[in-house]
Amino acid sequence: MDFYDVINNRRTIRDFESDDIPMEVIERIVDAAMKAPSNDHLRDWEYIVIKDKNVMAKVLDVDTIPRDFSDEEMNELAKAWNLNDIDQFNAYKLAVPKQYRMLYEANALVIPIFKEKVDILHPADISHLNVFASIWCSIENFLLASTYEGLGCSLRIALAKEMENAIKVLNIPKGYFIPCFLGLGKPKKDAKLCKQKEINTKNRIHYNKF
Ligand SMILES: Cc1cc2nc3c(=O)[nH]c(=O)nc-3n(C[C@H](O)[C@H](O)[C@H](O)COP(=O)(O)O)c2cc1C
Repeated sequence: MDFYDVINNRRTIRDFESDDIPMEVIERIVDAAMKAPSNDHLRDWEYIVIKDKNVMAKVLDVDTIPRDFSDEEMNELAKAWNLNDIDQFNAYKLAVPKQYRMLYEANALVIPIFKEKVDILHPADISHLNVFASIWCSIENFLLASTYEGLGCSLRIALAKEMENAIKVLNIPKGYFIPCFLGLGKPKKDAKLCKQKEINTKNRIHYNKF
């Protein structure tokens, strides 16, 4: 796969085969994640890889992670979250009922963490979010390297209770922050993908003025 094939093939995967992913492949992917640009030059990220289903179940044992979602609940959510765009609505409709299984049924639940050096939930300045921006660069490398390896990832933003629980279950030291949960595995052949927004790049480039 050349670089642009990797970019074009990366998709959010929520349906996985049960195949085991060798640890050396996971190490290559995390190694790529460690090569991302970092705001303070420290590459101060760690990745917790969980393959033990008992541990996964404990980490994900939080009632804010939907295990299913009826059409009625989806319509209510669409109203509450102003999901007025049809592609956006369909993407949520596909994703929300799978929030639990897209992580639990992945071969590995992977949790990136970083040390919160400033209060990123109350930043005094945009630069206080640099540490958060940096780990997302690392996560993107993780997603692209997984694609290159023929694998796929699901991704969930850990809500407050989910982060608290994961920190407790995994014995993560105080002061660390979890930007998201990642499910890593071999995509099912018929894995359902949401329709990507078609963007005419020419309309998004502004030369010399907006
Ligand atoms: C910051 C961020 C947060 C996301 N949060 C979730 C999430 O909580 N649950 C989920 O299923 N997908 C989540 N996604 C994945 C998006 O739904 C997905 O990237 C989007 O629908 C486009 O689809 P694609 O990744 O296949 O191109 C998130 C992606 C990003 C970048």
